[in-house]
Amino acid sequence: KDVVRVGLMGLGTVGSGVVRLVEDHRDDLEKQTGQRIEITKVLVQDASKERSVQLQELLTDDPAQILENDEIDVVVEVMGGIDLTREYILRALERGKDVITANKDLIALHGGEILSVAAEKQCDVFYEASVAGGIPILRALVEGFSSDRITKMVGIVNGTTNYILTEMEREGALFEEALSQAQDLGYAEADPTSDVDGLDAARKMAILATLGFHIDMPLSGVAVKGIADVTQEDVSFAHQLGYRIKLVGIAQRDNGKVEVSVQPVLLPLSHPLSSVDGVFNAVTVYGEAVGETMFYGPGAGAMPTATAVVSDLVTVVKNRRLGVNGRGTVAPYQECNLKSPGE
Ligand code: NDP
Ligand code: HSE
Repeated sequence: KDVVRVGLMGLGTVGSGVVRLVEDHRDDLEKQTGQRIEITKVLVQDASKERSVQLQELLTDDPAQILENDEIDVVVEVMGGIDLTREYILRALERGKDVITANKDLIALHGGEILSVAAEKQCDVFYEASVAGGIPILRALVEGFSSDRITKMVGIVNGTTNYILTEMEREGALFEEALSQAQDLGYAEADPTSDVDGLDAARKMAILATLGFHIDMPLSGVAVKGIADVTQEDVSFAHQLGYRIKLVGIAQRDNGKVEVSVQPVLLPLSHPLSSVDGVFNAVTVYGEAVGETMFYGPGAGAMPTATAVVSDLVTVVKNRRLGVNGRGTVAPYQECNLKSPGE
C-alpha cells in the first residue's frame, strides 16, 4: 500500500495548518516516507461554515465516518476538549488506528490510559504539538537526552500569556486588548482562561516532567498561578527596575523529590528567558551530564504547530512501513513503573 489515509478531527487554527503543510510539502513528505499522505475525511462541528481551506467534499460532522472507517489508517486529533476527545481517541485505537494529537489537556489527564491502550493495540500515539508548539522538545527529551539524567526544566511554555505580557510592556497595551489580539492570531485556547490562569502551562509542565523525569506527574501536583492579576503598571515598573515579568514553568527533582510549578516571575533583563518575546516559547533543560541546554521557537499558531503534528505523522508513516511502533514519546509511560513524584 503506497497511500496512508488520514482522518483529521478539527479544522480550526491547527487543522488548517496541517492541511496546508501536507499539501505544500507533499513531494518532500513522499520522498521521506515512500508513501503518499492523503487526508481522507475531516471532522468539524459545523460542516456548512465557510472555511479558508477548500475541502468541502471531505467535511463531516459525524465522527463515525472517521472512527469506523476501515480505510483510515491514522487519526489526527486537533479539535480540543477532553471527554469527547478521549472517547474518540480510544475508539480509534480500538480499531487499530494510529493517533496524533496536539491536545495537552487530554494528555496531561489521560495520557497514561491512552498510551497503555495504544501499546495493547500496537498502535502509535504521538503528541509533539502538545508542548511548546513548533519546538520539538518532547523528541529532544525522550530521544536526545535518553542517556542523561534530567534534573530541571525551566520554561516559557504558553504563547498567549507571553504575547500578552510582551504587548503590555512594549506597546503599552491593556491586558484585555492584548488577549483579544492573541485570540485573533489563533494562539489562545478555545477558553482562554486556561492560558491566562496558567492551567495550559501547568498541563505542559506536567507532560515535560512525566517525560523528562520518567514519572507519572499528575496535573493535580502542579502548583499554578497565572497572570490575571498582572497589570500594565506592574509590567512597566518591573521594566524600569531592570526586570521583565514572565509566566515561567519550573520542574525540578532533587533526591527523588519532584516539584512542578507555574507562576509569574520577575526575571532580570540579562536572563536568557527574559528576551523571549511574543508568541515565542523557550525551555531550558538541565542534565547531569550535558549541563544546560536551551530550546527556543514559536510556541503556538497554525504553521509552527502544524510542523510538530506533521512530523509526528511522518514518524507514524515510516513506522507503518517498517511494521514497528513507537519512538521515544511513548516510552516513559510504558517503561517506568508509573511511580508518583517523590517516590
Ligand atoms: P480551533 O478552535 O481553532 O479549532 C477546533 C476545530 O475542531 C474546529 O474546526 C471545530 O469545528 C472542531 N471541533 C471542535 N469541537 C468539535 C466537536 N465536538 N466535534 C467535531 N468537531 C469539533 O482550535 P485550535 O486549532 O486552536 O486547537 C486545536 C487543538 O490544538 C487544541 O487541543 C489546542 O489546545 C491544541 N493546540 C493549539 C495550538 C494553537 O496555536 N492554536 C498550539 C498547540 C496545540 P468548526 O470549525 O466547525 O467549529
Ligand atoms: N494556547 C496555547 C498557547 C497554544 O498560547 O501556548 C499552544 O499550546
